[in-house]
Amino acid sequence: MTIKICIANPKGGTAKTSTAVNLCCALAKEHYKIMLCDLDPQCSATVSLGYPQADDYHSLAGVLISDNDINPCVMHYETGNFDILPANADLTVVPVALYNKNDGIFKLKNALKNLEKDYDFIIFDTPAALNIITENALCAADKLVIPLYCDYFALDSMYYLLSKCQKLKDEGKSHIELLGIVRTLYDNTSPLSRYISHELKEQFGELLFSSLMSFNNRVSEAQATGVGIYFYDGSSISSRQAMLFAKELLKRLDI
Ligand SMILES: Nc1ncnc2c1ncn2[C@@H]1O[C@H](COP(=O)(O)OP(=O)(O)OP(=O)(O)O)[C@@H](O)[C@H]1O
Ligand SMILES: [Mg+2]
Repeated sequence: MTIKICIANPKGGTAKTSTAVNLCCALAKEHYKIMLCDLDPQCSATVSLGYPQADDYHSLAGVLISDNDINPCVMHYETGNFDILPANADLTVVPVALYNKNDGIFKLKNALKNLEKDYDFIIFDTPAALNIITENALCAADKLVIPLYCDYFALDSMYYLLSKCQKLKDEGKSHIELLGIVRTLYDNTSPLSRYISHELKEQFGELLFSSLMSFNNRVSEAQATGVGIYFYDGSSISSRQAMLFAKELLKRLDI
């Protein structure tokens, strides 16, 4: 059975893309069949794997706006041995195009129906906004992972996201469940990081992943080079942390 995981946090720069990309690399390394779906018009996931932005014909925007066939959009990321649905800047017009359309939030879910059986996991990288693109991912996904940078405002945006999920579920539009919160860009020397971390443990208990992603320049270097962290520096602490996180996630899913 395919498990669709939405990586989301409406706050910008909380390592959503890094978490999504590293998770795909780690799961593919464990021989799962993976699809990474880049839903951010910034195209960070696409670009960080060395892909050009999708052209019109291969654009997810066309799938979401005009119900185009999703199959031609699928690319293969050779180095990491997983598939990718690349983004392009046209995704910026999706919220306007789908405004007031009744079935607008189910476009992604419907488009994936014939494709998803080919994968063990589909991972959605979402934009830093709680707009209709993110809502599409929340309606299509089974599980939610929230990458959280441990500062006060990140908590605010996380609560906002969780209440949106609850609303979609109450309306019968989504069945998404919070799989967990992962601390990212973590700085063990920062008292605020440690304090927020403690608060998260108190409040979310088991839902807080015990594995975390420490701040490490190798992650941004890897992205700038257009390869996942494993292929840039497989022995780095970030590679090890990404694999630990993937294994904890699999355990949580009873896999
Ligand atoms: N563990 C890490 N150590 C150091 N830098 C990191 C780490 N993880 C991510 N970064 C850097 O932090 C920045 C934000 O990361 P990323 O793009 O993954 O966040 P995002 O939540 O997807 O951002 P956006 O909201 O803009 O989509 C990037 O420059 C990235 O290279
Ligand atoms: Mg991003």
